Amino acid sequence: MKILSILCLGLLACVAHAAGTERPWQALPAQAPSPASNPTSDAKVELGRMLFHDVRLSESRTVSCATCHALAEGGADHRPTSLGVHGEPDGRNAPTVWNVAFLTSYYWDGRAASLEDQARTQMLNPIDMGMRDSAYIEARVRSIAGYQPYFERAFGSEGVTAVNVARAIAAFERTLITPDTAYDRYVKGDRTALTEQQLRGMASFRADGCGRCHQGPAFDGPALAAGTVFTMRFPSYPRSAYAATYRLVADLGRYEWTGKEPDRSQWRVPSLRNLTYTAPFMHNGLVPTLAAAVRVMGSTELARTFTDPEVADLVAFLEALSGPLPVISAPVLPP
Ligand code: HEC
Ligand code: HEC
Repeated sequence: MKILSILCLGLLACVAHAAGTERPWQALPAQAPSPASNPTSDAKVELGRMLFHDVRLSESRTVSCATCHALAEGGADHRPTSLGVHGEPDGRNAPTVWNVAFLTSYYWDGRAASLEDQARTQMLNPIDMGMRDSAYIEARVRSIAGYQPYFERAFGSEGVTAVNVARAIAAFERTLITPDTAYDRYVKGDRTALTEQQLRGMASFRADGCGRCHQGPAFDGPALAAGTVFTMRFPSYPRSAYAATYRLVADLGRYEWTGKEPDRSQWRVPSLRNLTYTAPFMHNGLVPTLAAAVRVMGSTELARTFTDPEVADLVAFLEALSGPLPVISAPVLPP
């Protein structure tokens, strides 16, 4: 962890001081890479789609991944903070699972280094899914005989293990991609794909400094190796009136997890794709609209107060980063 945070601080300085090094506008690839430890296969994706939708992966058999990350609705749950397996609030807002394949760290504070790690820790999270430990996950999945052949096809003789459950889910998530937005079509050469207003928003996104933090195909920061987190202080200007209005300083971000001073109020820079589907915004879900989120960012990260037309242009640009959502049919689950 130590090496990562030094690396982050180094990058933070580099990005903040050398605006010229910002990455160029990039389209989202139509396919995601997979790690050597979990190469994607059709069999894993098919199994992962089932597991993602199966409420039996939660302790009380009441919530599945899809409960909080509803794919047809943008991959989130529309609540400020999610309600977990025993009806208790998670305390943070559910981010979308669309395009997570292109991120290099997971959770609002970047505490998971891979999609596999994320899926496993979320199943074990006592509030979210409440599975007690790896053995408990394995016993639960083994008790559903119909899964056996699917695990054999995906993992051969390794069969049902908690690691393979997470691998299959991660392989499925790597297929959740929305590469055909107006923005992507524009970057790939269709000069008619964006409206005048969206083009104005795109120009000000860069000129006003949003792109210092939100850059690259997922708008989540500089190009980093998998497992590396790019964090920034939020709010950078804690005296912004919005910090109090939306209670943005109560949760100390990465510090809550590491307990290390340099991590105080540090948050991973999140992706900006598909935000038209995922209101409310920010880690606590207290910012209700995209327009409000833009004002908050201007004030808390750039010390800027945007005019109404400036906000409207930036919102129009952010809308060009959304959809269309490919249809993922609900799987038939083994009895
Ligand atoms: C009870 C609701 C709930 C359930 C069930 C749930 N999630 Fe989440 N998910 C969340 C919340 C809330 C967060 C953010 C938590 C945080 O950052 O501390 C999150 C974060 C994530 C992320 C990180 C996204 C990012 O941008 O970093 C992924 C990926 C994800 N969940 C996938 C899954 C998968 C796969 C499952 C099933 C194994 C699952 N979730 C089950 C609520 C839920
Ligand atoms: C100094 C870095 C930085 C700058 C500059 C910045 N952001 Fe952010 N942005 C962040 C961080 C960090 C978060 C996560 C906040 C949190 O944890 O709640 C975020 C969150 C957001 C969100 C909410 C995403 C969600 O899923 O809820 C939006 C929208 C957003 N930024 C847009 C912008 C826009 C537009 C600009 C320019 C006006 C901008 N940002 C400038 C770092 C930055």
